[in-house]
Amino acid sequence: MVQGLCPSRRVCLYPTMPLLAEWLLCHSLVACLLLHSLALGATTAGLHGANTGCSESCYCSEMADGGRVVRCSNRHLAEVPHDLPNDTRRLYLDGNLLTTIPADAFAGLPLLNELDLSHNELTQMEPGAFRGLVPSLRSLDLSSNRLTTLEPEVLGGLRAQANLTHNPWHCDCRLQVAMPRLDLEPVSLAGVVCHTSEPKDVGIDTGVPFIMVAADLDLCAGLKRTTDVAMLVTMFGWFAMVISYLVYYVRHNQEDARRHLEYLKSLPSKLDRPEESSKLRTVV
Ligand SMILES: *[C@@H]1O[C@H](CO)[C@@H](O)[C@H](O)[C@H]1NC(C)=O
Ligand SMILES: *[C@@H]1O[C@H](CO)[C@@H](O)[C@H](O)[C@H]1NC(C)=O
Repeated sequence: MVQGLCPSRRVCLYPTMPLLAEWLLCHSLVACLLLHSLALGATTAGLHGANTGCSESCYCSEMADGGRVVRCSNRHLAEVPHDLPNDTRRLYLDGNLLTTIPADAFAGLPLLNELDLSHNELTQMEPGAFRGLVPSLRSLDLSSNRLTTLEPEVLGGLRAQANLTHNPWHCDCRLQVAMPRLDLEPVSLAGVVCHTSEPKDVGIDTGVPFIMVAADLDLCAGLKRTTDVAMLVTMFGWFAMVISYLVYYVRHNQEDARRHLEYLKSLPSKLDRPEESSKLRTVV
């Protein structure tokens, strides 16, 4: 009967236990049940341990092909969690309160291929923010944030398809220079629609992707003019310095020459010396 309650001897088999103890345990109903619950407890603890490998503030699930989906949406997060599992394939951080992405924020996630940062408060991202993701990342959602400009140093060669819509893009020389230097999927740039622009009088149509108008506009022209003026002023400054030095040098030398001349004139004996030497020569 006891054997019946302990259905498979293997449940009670503990390799480290001596045979006698094992026998005793297996033939005691209470001990067997106890071992059962212990074993169950151990396995659930194990499973639980695997799940706590997930970030504290997120919910993790396994993908069919082994990667992990980590959902941290709408959690009032003010920063990217530091305890994300390193086998994360998809990461949802949308609907949080992120204002910036620090450098190397995702550097420990070599398998990450989908990253959702939409509906946050992002105003800027630090250079190197996506470092380590260049080979793996395929999709990056930055939509519905507060981004005004894009910097190649921030995106660092990412070839992902990015959703850049619903940001208050500021179309200026910096953005115009930056856009051709980005390696993002070209379709991504359709999401950059100017909210403000500089110079203000260039008349960029609202609702038109910046990439469509950028070809006909030179937002850097004003800046170039300013640089030209600055160059001219600097060159004029140098020129003035050189001229004044020359003038000073000539004046100074003129004075010197005059003083020298006066000095020579005040020494009449000096003029006699040649005669003395000729006298000497005749004596010799
Ligand atoms: C994740 O970290 C574990 C333990 O440090 C390591 O064995 C494993 O190779 C890492 N996985 C990846 C994909 O880097
Ligand atoms: C980009 O994001 C916006 C707003 O979050 C969304 O409505 C749109 O469907 C997204 N576009 C793509 C191509 O995913």
